[in-house]
Amino acid sequence: MILNSVENVLMNNPIRAALQLHYEAPLLEQLGGRVEGGRVLEMGCGRGLGTEIILSRFGAAHVDAFDLDSDMVERTRRRLARFGNRVRIFQGDASRIAADASSYDAVFDFGIIHHVPEWQEAVREVSRVLRPGGRFFFEEVTRHALERWTYRRFLDHPSDDRFSGAQFVAELERSGFRVPRWTERFFGDFAFGVGFRTAQPGSSAACAHA
Ligand SMILES: C[S@@+](CC[C@H](N)C(=O)[O-])C[C@H]1O[C@@H](n2cnc3c(N)ncnc32)[C@H](O)[C@@H]1O
Repeated sequence: MILNSVENVLMNNPIRAALQLHYEAPLLEQLGGRVEGGRVLEMGCGRGLGTEIILSRFGAAHVDAFDLDSDMVERTRRRLARFGNRVRIFQGDASRIAADASSYDAVFDFGIIHHVPEWQEAVREVSRVLRPGGRFFFEEVTRHALERWTYRRFLDHPSDDRFSGAQFVAELERSGFRVPRWTERFFGDFAFGVGFRTAQPGSSAACAHA
């Protein structure tokens, strides 16, 4: 589900950019480390700041990034033109990722899976496209936030079957991830963490809350 005009403004302004640069990225790096020289996928790239962060801060060699919204794809292409063939930007859907199995060393999700009606499909797709041992960096908006009056009144999200942080992590574990470190922030409205793709889906160990 693409952003309505209110969320478009909320996601594309200097305050949100500062948060992503100075709060979200450092927290994800603290939880999961860098991806030096890696081949990385970013889902729901929006205007492309996350892709830029993955290249410059996390040290990826190459990033494929996609978004459902063709306007966002164009914005990201313009923003990242200077990175040349280190990036490939395309229109796509997180519940049917256009990539072969085990294609990536890491996948990044800066707040997109809560927009996907069949969000469990997106989690399974992340598991499919990651190589065994690959990492899934996530920052997600929980049911706790989406049930707030302000979210329901001003923003458009799928309303059924949303997840808590613990439910998101449990789905990751069912889909073949080990999630040793994750954390909830902002009164439980957001979940941040890093999942490690195990060799066999379903073989994950118990997680510890960071
Ligand atoms: C809350 S915004 C986050 C954008 C960006 N990751 C950021 O942090 O600025 C969610 C993004 O996910 C995209 N999106 C929504 N549903 C999607 C889907 N099924 N597949 C891919 N992208 C999707 C939206 O178009 C939007 O750009």
